[in-house]
Amino acid sequence: MTAIYDNPLKFKRIEVRPLNSTIGAEIHGVDLTRRLDDDTWREILQAFHDYLVIYFPDQPISHDQHLAFSERFGSLMDIPQLHKAEGYDMIHLIKRDADDTGRVIGESWHADSTYFEQPPAAVVMRAVTVPEFGGDTGFLNMYAAYETLSPALRTVLDTLKAVHSATRIYGSAYHAQKRKFSANNARVDLDIEAGDRETVHPLVCTHPGSGRRHLYVNPVYVQRFEGMTEAESQPLLRFLYDHCARFEHTCRVRWRKDQVLIWDNRCAMHKAIPDYIGRARYMTRTTIAGPRPA
Ligand code: SIN
Repeated sequence: MTAIYDNPLKFKRIEVRPLNSTIGAEIHGVDLTRRLDDDTWREILQAFHDYLVIYFPDQPISHDQHLAFSERFGSLMDIPQLHKAEGYDMIHLIKRDADDTGRVIGESWHADSTYFEQPPAAVVMRAVTVPEFGGDTGFLNMYAAYETLSPALRTVLDTLKAVHSATRIYGSAYHAQKRKFSANNARVDLDIEAGDRETVHPLVCTHPGSGRRHLYVNPVYVQRFEGMTEAESQPLLRFLYDHCARFEHTCRVRWRKDQVLIWDNRCAMHKAIPDYIGRARYMTRTTIAGPRPA
């Protein structure tokens, strides 16, 4: 695997503290309540490409400052299944009250909304209320997942495409199962047909920022490989999901109040860990639009 995460000292304007040699870094020396100068911005962008998930402790930003920081990464987009902060079309809520027993949003490994023709490139999330224990987010590196496969299997995967849809999130597969989101957490009134609509993306994509190849597949939105049945697709999909989630491809981020984090939604998957029963957790997030994966 290409080692690209081993030189935090190359940064001059920001301090970068990697979580491990694969994914994730804590960033210091930045004040997100102010407009960033161009040199600091370039280093943040570099750290984002190097570590895929970067986070900034102690940043008590307003919604407007959250938007301003996010817009430096690109234009923003809507996520239909999430509620919005009052008066803000592009700030979405991940909100769970202490007495909520519904399904936790994002509790399985996934990348966000890959069923769109142009899925999100990144997400900027801020912790507003954090439980005193639990509620971490896991992340995993999809470059590493691809690069640690055998060359022979990579050659096969390079030829495949995956069919994505939101059927398990708000389409007919969601409505056919028992475990539901509570109306407080997610919009449960969305068009079922839109949830079932299918989009096809290559299974292996080239990241437009880094030029590197990564797997683009996740168990929430991918239904099957194009041209194959679900039964035919499942064994290889299961193998890929297990391989992606190997511990050495992952990191786990502990949230603190006012921590701001950005993840790359193309070459990383994430998972909200549902281990804070009886506690409230409240985050705000923006979503950066991306191009069609290729
Ligand atoms: C998400 O999947 O968008 C939410 C992640 C989290 O709540 O940690």
